[in-house]
Amino acid sequence: MDKPHRRRSRLRRRPLTATLTREPHRVGPLADRLNGILASRGIDPGVTGEEPPAEPVTALELADARIPARYRRALADQPQVTAWADEIARAGRPGPGGPGIAEGPSLLIAGPTGTGKTYQAYGAIRGLLSRGVRLRWDATTTADLHARIRPRAGHDAERDLQTLARCPLLLLDDLGAAKTSEWTEELTYRLINHRYEHMLPTLITTNLPTAELRATLGDRVASRLAEMTERVVLTGPDRRRHTAATA
Ligand SMILES: Nc1ncnc2c1ncn2[C@@H]1O[C@H](COP(=O)(O)OP(=O)(O)OP(=O)(O)O)[C@@H](O)[C@H]1O
Ligand SMILES: [Mg+2]
Repeated sequence: MDKPHRRRSRLRRRPLTATLTREPHRVGPLADRLNGILASRGIDPGVTGEEPPAEPVTALELADARIPARYRRALADQPQVTAWADEIARAGRPGPGGPGIAEGPSLLIAGPTGTGKTYQAYGAIRGLLSRGVRLRWDATTTADLHARIRPRAGHDAERDLQTLARCPLLLLDDLGAAKTSEWTEELTYRLINHRYEHMLPTLITTNLPTAELRATLGDRVASRLAEMTERVVLTGPDRRRHTAATA
């Protein structure tokens, strides 16, 4: 009893795939009439309409969705920032989908409020993506980092920290701007130390001059940053106020 039933259901399924692969064929008088109407209008009933080719989605377009709207069109134009991006792109490991990011120098972009530090940092990430570098990247402000890693029930903070620490490219925005405690100092130390030891490219922005950075983050972090980063100092007016005044 069981066997014939199974065989029948298999047979019933078979024509479904067959119709997908078989040549289109005309069935019955109604189909003949329809075909006649189409032919009279110059449409060949044998020709099926083709879907327009799907637009290729570039890595840059995918990244745009993760970049904050304000920096989605950012173009790094500061010479040291573009030189850093060039160096990272050149050092890329060859891979099937294009060069992947490898070990390399980090960049510390310092300067007063509104001089374009975050803009340059996102511009550098966009520059790498547009050059076809396969890039797994993450970005966080220090304040958000503290909130994200804060120990809380049902949340594996250690895993989050490891994910950020190991990410091939990390943007750590506004370093030294968030309130510090012994716990945040330890957290920053572990994050920076991992990236220092493994020479993982890191983009860091800060409002603090070097001496204050040392006082805020401690000597161990400041010392590692001094060795692992190239330093860029942006100057000029606060672009936010400047834009508002000229608008
Ligand atoms: N080179 C640039 N060309 C056009 N717009 C820019 C440029 N640099 C910065 N801006 C714009 O100026 C504003 C301030 O830039 P940004 O947020 O990068 O400053 P910041 O130095 O990171 O400030 P903060 O220290 O407060 O974080 C933003 O609106 C940004 O889009
Ligand atoms: Mg900023």
